[in-house]
Amino acid sequence: MPHRSRSFADVDLAAAYAYPTDRPWLRANMIASLDGSAWWGDRTGPLGDERDRELFQLLRGLADVVIVGAGTVRVEGYGPVRPRPEWDELRAGRAPVPPLAVVSRALNLDFDAPIFTAASERTIVLTTEAAPASQRKAAEARAEVIVAGREDVDIRAAVDALIARGHRRLLCEGGPILLAQVAAAGLLDELCLTLSPVLLAGDAARILNGTPLPEPGHFGLAHVLTGEDHLFLRYVAKNAQGAGPTPSGT
Ligand SMILES: NC(=O)c1ccc[n+]([C@@H]2O[C@H](COP(=O)([O-])OP(=O)(O)OC[C@H]3O[C@@H](n4cnc5c(N)ncnc54)[C@H](OP(=O)(O)O)[C@@H]3O)[C@@H](O)[C@H]2O)c1
Repeated sequence: MPHRSRSFADVDLAAAYAYPTDRPWLRANMIASLDGSAWWGDRTGPLGDERDRELFQLLRGLADVVIVGAGTVRVEGYGPVRPRPEWDELRAGRAPVPPLAVVSRALNLDFDAPIFTAASERTIVLTTEAAPASQRKAAEARAEVIVAGREDVDIRAAVDALIARGHRRLLCEGGPILLAQVAAAGLLDELCLTLSPVLLAGDAARILNGTPLPEPGHFGLAHVLTGEDHLFLRYVAKNAQGAGPTPSGT
């Protein structure tokens, strides 16, 4: 077995995190403290370091679409994805940035904010039939709205809809409530987890927050990259078949 632990600085990140080319693939990128907290003072930023930010951007650069829960958009004040010069090669033949796909039931979002008004790739809103009509109208004026479910967004239907639009390299940036549902739906092919060298205690959620999965999700270690004090773990689901309706090998 090849040695799977390498120094972050010595690795060609784009190669180490390349998506499979033969199937849709859903990866999540998350960070946790040593004791499992998914945030520090409501935000993830304080958990990360420069390398984590580099990886965060690289994973965006590799992706066709970035899926995120409305809670994270509100708390973290998400803006649109901005093009970066280092993505030119990564994204050759694709749009310069991946669109964001925001999952929301209530549509309690600021549709006048840059995430909707200044996105070079129109932001997608994944919502439900039960979303308030006035909010739905506001969303439709500023975003591409996909209705995938009645009361709740059916995560599998939402992911299928993204894949049907050509977004085969999917990146989920959480938060924990959304990611728990992605995993519960059996859609999580890969987890990129940054381990942050800090203890916090308190009541922050773990990186998955919701009802227990129907079956434990088992993952194999693809690699560990060592930073100064952070660890960058890449785990692939043991049963990863690729997100979406068409399993691998076909
Ligand atoms: N550690 C990390 O890597 C990481 C990553 C991301 C975020 N975070 C942190 O996590 C916190 C936010 O995460 P969170 O878990 O509270 O929220 P979240 O997962 O980002 O968003 C939850 C919201 O998403 C919408 N949603 C989720 N599932 C849905 C479904 N099936 N159907 C319809 N809508 C659905 C709902 O939005 P509406 O309320 O609009 O209906 C729900 O309130 C923040 O503190 C953030 O800093 C940490």
